[in-house]
Amino acid sequence: MKNFISVHDVNDINALVKKALAYKANPYADRNLGADKKIGMLFLNPSLRTRLSTQVAAKNLGLESIVFNVDKEGWALEFEEGAIMSGTTVEHVKDAAPILGQYFDVLCIRAFPALKYKEEDYSEQVMNAFIKYAGIPIVSLESATLHPLQSLTDIITIKEQNEKSAITNHRSKIVLTWAPHIKPLPQCVANSFAQWINAWGEADFVITHPEDYELDEQFTRGATITHDQDAALKDADFVYVKNWSTYTDYGKIYSNDPAWMLTEEKLKLTNNAKVMHCLPVRRNVELSDEILDGPNSLVSTQAGNRVWAAQAVLAEILKAK
Ligand code: CP
Repeated sequence: MKNFISVHDVNDINALVKKALAYKANPYADRNLGADKKIGMLFLNPSLRTRLSTQVAAKNLGLESIVFNVDKEGWALEFEEGAIMSGTTVEHVKDAAPILGQYFDVLCIRAFPALKYKEEDYSEQVMNAFIKYAGIPIVSLESATLHPLQSLTDIITIKEQNEKSAITNHRSKIVLTWAPHIKPLPQCVANSFAQWINAWGEADFVITHPEDYELDEQFTRGATITHDQDAALKDADFVYVKNWSTYTDYGKIYSNDPAWMLTEEKLKLTNNAKVMHCLPVRRNVELSDEILDGPNSLVSTQAGNRVWAAQAVLAEILKAK
């Protein structure tokens, strides 16, 4: 594995999931794989799970991780080719990235979309600039359009749950449902979940959202899409809850309808579904307390599994170097 930006960087999803679950069973199996190597972790946006789980994963592999909160501590970076830098940006990525490439063996980057210009965000300007100029492997810690470490974690969690429940002779039904939120959020988690579940191909996959919340087809193609949440939830084994802002008329909130929040009552429509969310979650806006604190919630297990996803990915990158 050269970089880890999307599902397209993975040859065999099930093999990567198996590797992650092997690390969960034996975290220190490759404790010397990263000896004398360093990963740089650049955060242009906040994080709790991604930052700490990746640092724990690195530690388990004997890697040193160095975190740099670019948004708070660094020079404001410029990404536009040919920019006349007479504004607020201080350093061009084409100057900064090659230096980071000399300091580290792997560079991990979190860079959310600005949600102003769709073309700019969907061109993955930031991630692609680091790939172009750093000269070392790049791992996405969530980009403008995707969150691949989260999606790998999600499949690990689903697979683990199916094995626990001995659901091996039954094709799971997975539903991604939109939920209300007070702020316009990126489409990354939903895009990425759709991309990975479609590529995985081991479940019936339904996406449900209000009208005008269609995601980019390049990620959703293969899924069944409906505006009828109750119909979507019927017989679901897993319900993945996530808000996203509008994609077509980019970055807007068209609906905040509380009727879209998943409740115990709605869960009765499902096959006693397990409920997933990437976190952080706005309680009683996106998801009710009763679900989050109830027996069907997988959110804590899911967040715990972030370590094993990151460890499997970092190990694959180190082995390929
Ligand atoms: N799910 C996730 O990426 O969490 P953080 O934003 O806390 O890293």
